[in-house]
Amino acid sequence: MDQLVIGRRAVLGLVGAAGVATLTGCAVDGPGTGQVLASAAPIPPPFKVPLPIPRVAKTVRRDDTTDYYEVVQKVAKVEILPGSRTTIWGYDGTFPGPTFRARTGRRVVVTVRNELPVPTSTHLHGGVTPPESDGFPTDLVVPAGYPVHTAHTSHNGMRMNPADWKFHDRTRDYEYPMVQQAATLWYHDHRMDFSAPQVWRGLAGAFLVGDNDEDRLGLPRGDKDIPLLICDRSFDAHGEFRYPELDSTLTNPGVTQEFMSGVFGDVILVNGAPWPVLDVANTRYRFRLINGSNARRYQLTGVPLVQIGSDGGLLAAPVRLDALTIAPGERYDVVVDFSGYPVGTELTLTNALGEGRTRDVLRFRVARAEKDESVVPASLVPVPVLRREDAVATRQFDFRLQGGKWTINGQPYDTSGSLAAPKLDTVELWRFTSDFHHPVHVHLAQFQVLSRTGRDPEDSDGGWKDTVDIRPYGVVEVLVRFAGYKGRYMMHCHNLEHEDMAMMANFDIV
Ligand code: C2O
Ligand code: CU
Ligand code: CU
Repeated sequence: MDQLVIGRRAVLGLVGAAGVATLTGCAVDGPGTGQVLASAAPIPPPFKVPLPIPRVAKTVRRDDTTDYYEVVQKVAKVEILPGSRTTIWGYDGTFPGPTFRARTGRRVVVTVRNELPVPTSTHLHGGVTPPESDGFPTDLVVPAGYPVHTAHTSHNGMRMNPADWKFHDRTRDYEYPMVQQAATLWYHDHRMDFSAPQVWRGLAGAFLVGDNDEDRLGLPRGDKDIPLLICDRSFDAHGEFRYPELDSTLTNPGVTQEFMSGVFGDVILVNGAPWPVLDVANTRYRFRLINGSNARRYQLTGVPLVQIGSDGGLLAAPVRLDALTIAPGERYDVVVDFSGYPVGTELTLTNALGEGRTRDVLRFRVARAEKDESVVPASLVPVPVLRREDAVATRQFDFRLQGGKWTINGQPYDTSGSLAAPKLDTVELWRFTSDFHHPVHVHLAQFQVLSRTGRDPEDSDGGWKDTVDIRPYGVVEVLVRFAGYKGRYMMHCHNLEHEDMAMMANFDIV
C-alpha cells in the first residue's frame, strides 16, 4: 500500500481506475469515502421481507445495584437473502446482536464469551465507561487455542508496543456504571486492525439507556420504540458475506488496494434484513437510527422525521427534518407520526446519497388503525448549552491521508502515544479538519457542535454527540466535555477501513 498511494491525487487516480461511475472519494454529497463492492449473488427485490426486531437481552441475574448479562460471540448461519444461508459472527449468534435495555443509575455487567476463531474487543459506543471496560482495540478476549503472539500485528506505519496489549482467556466482564442519561448507544467489535471485517461479519447491536425523565415525556414506547440498525453489505455467489480482506483468517490485516478508502456494500440491510418492510399502526413510532455501516453515509428522506435525540441523549426540543444525514457510528432518535395516513398507505424511507438500489432503505405500510397514547412534547429535557468561552483549551486534529496512510495530525496510530491530556470536568474546543469524508468519533466524552466550516451547525447537529460527520475539506468545531473517568481513551475515524488502517489516536483524561 505504501508504495502505491502517495497523496490525494494518487488515490483519486486509483479510485477512478477502479470505476469512474462509483468515484465518490471527494463528492461532498456522496455516500462518503469508499468504493462499492458488487455482490455476485442475485440481489433480492425490495420490501418483501418483514423488518426483524432484535431480541431484547435478558438478565441472568439481578441484585440491588446491578443487572448481569451473558453473551456468547459465535458463528451462526442465518437467512439474510431469501432462500440462502449466510455465515455470520454474532453476539449470541444473531445479527444484529440482542438489544440491551439499561437504566440510568443501574450498573450493567456483561460477560462476553468468545467462541469465534479470532480475538475480539467489545466497545459500548457512546458509553460513559471506565477505561478498563471501554473495549480498547488492544484489550482482547482471545478464543481457546488461539496463538496469542499472532495478535501482535502492525501495518500502515502503526506503532505497536507489546506492553500495551492485554489478553483475556476466552471470557471477560465489561462493567458499565450507566452514569449517563437516556440515550441510544450501540455496541460493536473493536479488535485492533480488524474492526471492519469483524463488524461486517455481524458483531454489532443496539444498547438503549432509559431514565425517569424520558419516561415522563410520554414518547412512543414498547413495540413502538424500535432500533433500526442500518448497514450495507455485499454477498458472494453462495450468499455469503463478501469483503475484500487480504487474509480470510483475519490473522494478517488489510484490504485489497482499491478498498483502502472504505467498503460500500450494494445491499442495504435494516436489522439484518435486505430492504425490509414494517407494518405500522397509524400512530407515532420512535425509531433509534443507528448507522452501523463500515463507510456508507445515508441521507434519509421520504418520511416526515421529527428528531428528538442525538448520540448522547434527548434534545432540548424536537426538530422537524425533511432529510437526515447519518454517518457511520452516528445515532439519531426520531419520531415518525403515521396518523395522517389512511390505512393502506405505503411510505418509503429512501437514501438520497445512494445510487440505483442503494437509494432504497425501508418501507412502512400503514396496516391498522389504533388509538395513540403517545405525545412529543414541545420541550424534552434540559440540555446545557456549552459556549466558546467555556473552553479551557483549543486543539486541532487533522484527519488526512498522508504518505499513503490514514493519519491524525500526520501520525498513524501508536498504541503507546497520546495526542492530548484534557483535564477531567473541563470543556475544550476541538477543531477537526479533513481531506475526505471522515466520521470522527471520540470515546467517553460527549460534545456539542459549535460550527461547520465557519457556518452554523446543521439542523440535525443539536444535542450531545460523540460522532460527527466531517465533510471533504471541512472544519468542524466542537465543544467537548470531559466527564466521567480519568484514564486513556481514544478518538478515531469511524469509517472502519480508515480506523483499521491507523486513523486512531489516544488521549488521556487527567
Ligand atoms: Cu463505534 Cu471506537 O467506536
Ligand atoms: Cu465509541
Ligand atoms: Cu476516515
